[in-house]
Amino acid sequence: MIDRRHTNCMSTDGFRSYIFKDNEGTMTFPYKDDEFIRMWIADMEFATPDFILEAMKKRIDRRIFGYSKVFDPAYYEAFRQWCDRMYDWHCEREEMVTSPGIVPALYWLVGFLTKPDEKILIMTPSYKHFSGAPHWHNRELLCSDLVNDGTNYFTIDFKDFEEKAADPKTTLCIFCNPHNPTGRIWTEDELKRVGEICRKHNVYIISDEIHCDLIRTGRKHIPLAKALPDYKNIITCMSPSKTFNMAGTMLSNLVIPNPETRALWLEKRYMNDNPISIAGVQAAYAEGADWLAQLKVYIDKNFEFVKEFIETKLPKAVFRIPEATYLGWVDVGAYLGDVESLPKFFADNAGVLLEGGNMFVQNSDGFIRLNVACQRKVLEEGMNRIANAILAHQK
Ligand SMILES: Cc1ncc(COP(=O)(O)O)c(C=O)c1O
Repeated sequence: MIDRRHTNCMSTDGFRSYIFKDNEGTMTFPYKDDEFIRMWIADMEFATPDFILEAMKKRIDRRIFGYSKVFDPAYYEAFRQWCDRMYDWHCEREEMVTSPGIVPALYWLVGFLTKPDEKILIMTPSYKHFSGAPHWHNRELLCSDLVNDGTNYFTIDFKDFEEKAADPKTTLCIFCNPHNPTGRIWTEDELKRVGEICRKHNVYIISDEIHCDLIRTGRKHIPLAKALPDYKNIITCMSPSKTFNMAGTMLSNLVIPNPETRALWLEKRYMNDNPISIAGVQAAYAEGADWLAQLKVYIDKNFEFVKEFIETKLPKAVFRIPEATYLGWVDVGAYLGDVESLPKFFADNAGVLLEGGNMFVQNSDGFIRLNVACQRKVLEEGMNRIANAILAHQK
């Protein structure tokens, strides 16, 4: 257990502004800040592993932090080998560029890849920045709702997706693979169909694969670009930030096979990389496989606990263990259909911070998202508080 207060931590200190839009920080709750169980923002309660810390410390010991950029081929080689080993996906050094995060890349790429009157297609429910980036640029957003079979297994409505992709004004799709918040790992067939539809209608794809390492043990992630090797208009976004709990160090990798787009990125996005992050990311990819395998087992077990807990204590809630991510997507609509804001309800009545409802753009009413990447006893306490609040509301 690591005390994160007073480390400028979003999870402990940023929830008022992020979840409740309370930028002044004046909102009050029946719980003190350090009494909350935090199951919201997508980072983990686990320490970043030692081999990454050691690499960063070594870099700090060089004592100069002047302008830096990744020049060392060993960095790209570590990422290339990770992709080879983890996904059997082979990308070329010259296709790789760095970015200070995937979200900044989304905002920039929407500006580079689309014109003001063009439309951008996403699947909903969705990570909120997939709508934020188009809106920031005043681009029209098209949402294709995923279809829930009633057991929380979500699939793509290909008819609807193709109709929207076929609009001549649709030029970009922001795709989430694996999918946050539903936790789907798209099958090869699904990936091929998405890619073929986009290719047929000249739609560029940004494939956000930030969650691709955090999958259930035994599952395989397929990069979209691997399923469509000859479609060059796919940008793959990957990062060790979720995998090794280092999002605050802000260094991610993009794979841009189209040389014109890559040139655009390199020209317009000329920027430096944080030297400490460079060392950390390289170590993560070079040395992280065993640690990741252990982490996955812990998260798998946490999900098994959540499943059993929900089946026993909240039988009307709908939950299935997600194929990927450490984020559970739970339908509590049967209990809390009359509640306007689920995050506010759980903050006030359970002392649990979580995300839910319209924080996920649309097609998300009645759903909460639970981050289970925490110590088991914290998870148990969080789930008990959630169940007690729901059951008290029912009475
Ligand atoms: C799908 C998705 N993309 C991107 C991000 C954040 O990316 P970054 O921290 O690299 O900006 C998140 C974080 O939750 C996410 O879920």
